[in-house]
This record gives sequence, C-alpha cells and structure tokens, in this order.
Amino acid sequence: MNSIANAHHTKRRGIILAGGTGSRLHPVTLAVSKQLLPVYDKPMIYYPLSTLMLAGIDEVLIITTPHDSESFQRLLGDGSAWGMRIEYATQSAPNGLAEAFLIGEEFLDGHPACLVLGDNLFYGSGFSEQLQAASAITDRASLFAQQVGDPERYGVVDMDAEGTAISIEEKPEHPTSDWAVTGLYFFPADVSAAARSVQPSERGELEITSVIQWYLDRGQVDVSKLDRGFAWLDTGTFMSLVEASEYVRVIEQRQRTRIASPEEVAFRMGFIDAAQLLTLAEPLLKSGYGEYLAQIAESALAASSD
Ligand code: DAU
Repeated sequence: MNSIANAHHTKRRGIILAGGTGSRLHPVTLAVSKQLLPVYDKPMIYYPLSTLMLAGIDEVLIITTPHDSESFQRLLGDGSAWGMRIEYATQSAPNGLAEAFLIGEEFLDGHPACLVLGDNLFYGSGFSEQLQAASAITDRASLFAQQVGDPERYGVVDMDAEGTAISIEEKPEHPTSDWAVTGLYFFPADVSAAARSVQPSERGELEITSVIQWYLDRGQVDVSKLDRGFAWLDTGTFMSLVEASEYVRVIEQRQRTRIASPEEVAFRMGFIDAAQLLTLAEPLLKSGYGEYLAQIAESALAASSD
C-alpha cells in the first residue's frame, strides 16, 4: 500500500446511534424520535454530532429506527452545507449498541471508528484536545469515563493504579468501581470484525461492553478520565432532559455562547469558511441562533480583511 492509501485508511469515521424506542419518554416520543427532542435551543442530536466534529470527523453515519430516518434527513441532509458527508442507515430493533458496527460496516469501509450515542451530551474545557488525542490513536480502543454516584446504571470500568483498564461490565449489580463508561467510544479499523465475533448477552443484546472486552483481552484499551468539572449529561428521563436543557441555557446565557452548534464547530474545524457560515446564518436569524453564527462569521471576515 502506498502512503496516500495508508493515510486515507487512517481517517476516522463517525457513527451516531440514534435508534431505540424512547419508551422512558412516552408519550413524548410516540411521534418524535428522542434524539430530535430539544435540549434547550437545539435538537438533541446536535450535541453528539458536534462531539464527533470536534474530534475532526467529517464523515458520519446516523443510525435511526426505520420510521424516524426521514426526520433526521430533513434536519441534517447530506451534510454538505456543513462541509461534511452524512449518511443514514436504520436499525430494525434495538438489538444492542454493538450492532452499530455491523450496520455500519460498509460505511466504515475499513476505517477506524468513533461511536457516540445520540443521547449523550458532553461539555467541558479541554474536551477538544482530549478528543483529538484519542482520535489520533488508531490501533487501540479509547473510552471516556467519569465517576458517578450510581455506577450500576452504566457500563463500569475498573482500572489499576496506573489508570489501565482491567475489567468492564454492563450495569453490574455490584460495581467494582464508580467509573461509568460514557457513550463515546473510539475503535480501531477491525471493530466490525470484533462486533461480529461477540455473542448476544443474557438480555439478548449485542453489548458494547462485549466489544470492549474483546479489545481488553488483547491489551488494547485506553481510558480517558473526565474530571469532576466536566459535564457529561444524561437525557433519558423527563427530569434529566429538563436538567440538561437548563444546564445549556445557564451556560449559554451567562457566557453569551452556544454549546454544540454544528455550524460553529464546522467553521472552527475548517470544514467551511466564514462566507459559508454567514450563508448558513441567514435563514436562522429570527431565533437568535442565526445572529450568533452571523457574529462569528462577520468578525472572522473583518479580521481577515484587516
Ligand atoms: O450513556 C452511557 C451508557 O450507555 C453506557 O455506560 C453503557 O455501557 C451503555 O450500554 C449505554 O447504556 P444505556 O442504558 O444508556 O443504554 P440504552 O439501551 O438506553 O441505549 C442508549 C441509547 O442508544 C438510547 O438512546 C437508545 C439507543 N439505542 C439503544 C440500543 C440498545 C439504539 O439506538 N439501538 C439499540 O440497539
């Protein structure tokens, strides 16, 4: 293989898993996908999408239920307006998170992958650097973990004194640590093969923790710790959804900024230029969202003409 082909195949591709029945949010999610519900001023999926983009990923597959796919396509299109390529696939039933790598095998086409759950929201300083550092390592799996008060609700990773992962368990009755694994996973290019080799769990799902175990068996798992000043938010219940919205509102109002605006991230990551950002802002001026984007574009244009 020549070096250009090599470089091509190390480029990481992203998957957002945005399926599931949303049953804990019924009746709200009877007609609308959970991952399209608003978290304050933007659809939930903007948050995990921005996370992938901050990692430098501009090729993304969005996996939804068959009947929600059209709504996601109406919202995000083919990604070209944001300098990206966005594709869509469907999952017929919630058969487990690891099924994303089987559904997404063709899309990944032998590239390393990053999976993010469509309902996971991340916000904190230094996150971009942490993401880009994890993304640069393509021969090992990378997890992000945070200490929580209720580890039994999550995938739990136990680490030795050096921070090396020694075990991983999905929703253990008796957790061996309080480090919850967040819904953001970086995997090497062989992840689809790994996912194919694991068996469904007792609850009949292809568990993400089984895929992580596969890498753990090979000594290929890194864990990045998210410190206590970092916000990893859940959006799975009515209460946590309101809390996430309130969190975003408080930060945005106080700091006059927007958390997880894909248009802004596309500009900052160099997927689009300032003129393109300005064009994106125009149809959004009425909600104030566009005004924010226009200000960023205009100050960049002014700086470049100085
Ligand atoms: O949020 C982090 C946690 O996410 C991890 O700590 C766990 O290890 C991981 O299993 C997952 O736990 P959850 O209890 O949140 O998994 P849940 O089944 O609720 O699925 C998470 C999201 O993914 C949910 O919005 C629905 C969607 N989903 C889920 C499954 C099982 C799919 O789109 N397809 C699926 O097959």
